[in-house]
Amino acid sequence: MENNRTVGTPLSRLEGKLKVTGAAKYAGEYNVENLLYGYVVNSTITTGKILTIDSSVALALEGVVEVITHENRPKLPWFDLFYADMDAPPGTVFKPLYNDEIVYNGQPIALVLANDFETARYASTLVKVSYKSEEFQTCLDDHIDKARDAKKGMATMLKPPPPSPTGDFEKDYARAPVKVDSTYQHGTEHHNPIELFATTTIFEGDGKLTIYDKTQGTINSQFYVANIFGLHYKDVRVLAPYVGGAFGSGLRPQYQLFLCVMAAMHLKRNVRVTLDRAQMFTFGHRPPNVQRLRFASEVNGRLTAISHQAISETSRFEDYTEVVSTWSHKLYPAPNTLFEYKLVPLDVYTPVDMRAPGGSTAMHAIECIMDELSYKLDIDPVELRLINYTDTDPSTGKPYTSKELRQCYLKAAEQFGWEKRNPKPGSMKRGNKLVGYGMATGIWDAFQFPSRIEMVLDKSGRVTVNNAVTDIGTGTLTVMTQIAADELGIPIDMVTFSYGDSRKPFSMFQGGSAMTASTGSAIIVAAKLLKKKLFKIAKSMKNSSLAGVSEEELSLKNGGIAGINGSWVSFADLVIHNKKPIRIKKMTMPNMLKLKKYSLGTHSAAFVEVEVDQQLKTITVSRAVSAVAAGKIINPKTARSQVLGSMVWGISKALYEETIMDAKLGKYMNPNLGEYHIPVHADIGELEVIFADEKDDMINELGSKGVGEIGLVAMPAAIANAIFHATGKRINKLPIHFDELFESEGYTPLMA
Ligand code: MOS
Repeated sequence: MENNRTVGTPLSRLEGKLKVTGAAKYAGEYNVENLLYGYVVNSTITTGKILTIDSSVALALEGVVEVITHENRPKLPWFDLFYADMDAPPGTVFKPLYNDEIVYNGQPIALVLANDFETARYASTLVKVSYKSEEFQTCLDDHIDKARDAKKGMATMLKPPPPSPTGDFEKDYARAPVKVDSTYQHGTEHHNPIELFATTTIFEGDGKLTIYDKTQGTINSQFYVANIFGLHYKDVRVLAPYVGGAFGSGLRPQYQLFLCVMAAMHLKRNVRVTLDRAQMFTFGHRPPNVQRLRFASEVNGRLTAISHQAISETSRFEDYTEVVSTWSHKLYPAPNTLFEYKLVPLDVYTPVDMRAPGGSTAMHAIECIMDELSYKLDIDPVELRLINYTDTDPSTGKPYTSKELRQCYLKAAEQFGWEKRNPKPGSMKRGNKLVGYGMATGIWDAFQFPSRIEMVLDKSGRVTVNNAVTDIGTGTLTVMTQIAADELGIPIDMVTFSYGDSRKPFSMFQGGSAMTASTGSAIIVAAKLLKKKLFKIAKSMKNSSLAGVSEEELSLKNGGIAGINGSWVSFADLVIHNKKPIRIKKMTMPNMLKLKKYSLGTHSAAFVEVEVDQQLKTITVSRAVSAVAAGKIINPKTARSQVLGSMVWGISKALYEETIMDAKLGKYMNPNLGEYHIPVHADIGELEVIFADEKDDMINELGSKGVGEIGLVAMPAAIANAIFHATGKRINKLPIHFDELFESEGYTPLMA
């Protein structure tokens, strides 16, 4: 029987059952003999010095094995000048337990090791630390005047600074008949995937290390460990087959990896270090940010001048940057532009990428000012986007490899029922609720990374595809299996995608919505190579019905090679003839030479309905429709899940999520899921996802772009615009607190 193609069908996750039954093991769950448990002590001051650190009481507790601090830590090579990690911003990587200096609140200062986790945790409270505090600055709003340009470095390649100005912005802005000048603010957000950061290090007898790490990149963690501890990279194996969400937090190795490996090598023991929920607030975050936008247009709605100036937070030791001020000119043409992006270094940990870093921050501002402009112009918000629509990237003049954004607008608007909208704010009601409709555009990169694939065909006819990539919950295992099976013409249960292991051929970390396009395209290329090899072997088989057949006449069919006139040789027979499994290895790079003539991007449109209680002002997102254009969709089920998850995050970003910095203490005040608000099931209304029909023969062999982040970028602005439509109030600071809707209106009695 001929196998059915599965690309394009909504196949369920292959590892789904393992995950929901608890059989899938995460970094902190592996059963390891003679395991020591580490618990981290974090600094309680923000900046200054550790004067004394006394571990004697902790060490006296039964079950405590060691307390490692800056005073007794082993000496380490720290080859960080040469290499920190693949996602390290320009600057100096943070070194845990390096010396007595405290550079941020919550900094790890000691690791307590005990025979069980509870003892380690309790003993951590017995470590006595005295400090000398120094002055600090932790609040972006108070130090905006210190903004400066970002330093350039390796990260600049993926995150280029904004483009140079064009035309004369100030002159045209002064002249233009219609203009808006608005400032937008975002609070800090912290990563809180359900899986906490954890590392289990197995100290192998021969001094080698096997490490189960919560990471988005096994090879990234492997090289980080090898370079810091002065090991040969081949002696360090990092595994991450299952990852319980990461969203960018696992792009950089986190401090539990360092501490765990250090302890394992120091004590020559197996060690596990797991962070707790509060400690999830002691490393990278989405930085707070202030943006001033000025957009001007003719009375017909055509933009003539756009300016986007953004200021973000970074740490004192690294210049973490995001692409913020670049996006408006990738969407909307305007002859006069001015873009700026600046950083304020503060006494906090370095921010880290968080789902659609920069893009989700920027698009909130861009799409809210477009909404405001549409009201000034008295033009429908969708119409205003279409008036300024372009198939080329105005910031570079290059065409997009594909851009079905128009389709996104039109399909989502129709599905949503946008035509029923009365544009007048406060005009639509449902019972006691004001109803608001809002929409926004989304744009995100279509990154592609190099990827090396090994394919092995064994005599059972099974193909194993090896690659070091992780699956952080996105569906990579399933999607890669589908791609390989289809390309090789075999059923998916004859393909094993073997991944999440630094010993496998090279992959970048899973990030930037890049893996389907990168690993997937590499699989296509590798499968073609394997086919070629199979054809060659088939033709070399004596007495084979395929011996005299030309390669063009051969095809893969039913787990074998078919010639013309019904001739056929099974894969198993090919392997038997070959006397060993048939194996190929192939590195695939994105075709930059061809692609540099084009702009690459994914696009989306979100339409949102909110209900605002007239008395209580509580805000509910009652429904939302997102349309996404991301090339070919390999698996509509896992792709839809990615977009749904992003839409929920968009609701979270718009209405809930925020870490509060106390400027006097220099510390975050709500490091727990009780006070760090995220939406729960009851906060999520009806969500719909549409995929635009987007053909892209240019971008890669697969015709596919990523869907990991594009679902988030349009949502916050669509929600803010819907709140304006419901209430007539523009709240430009995210998250939007419902009590801000009371201001200047006074108290409306429940019963008048
Ligand atoms: Mo994503 S923020 O590239 O993991």
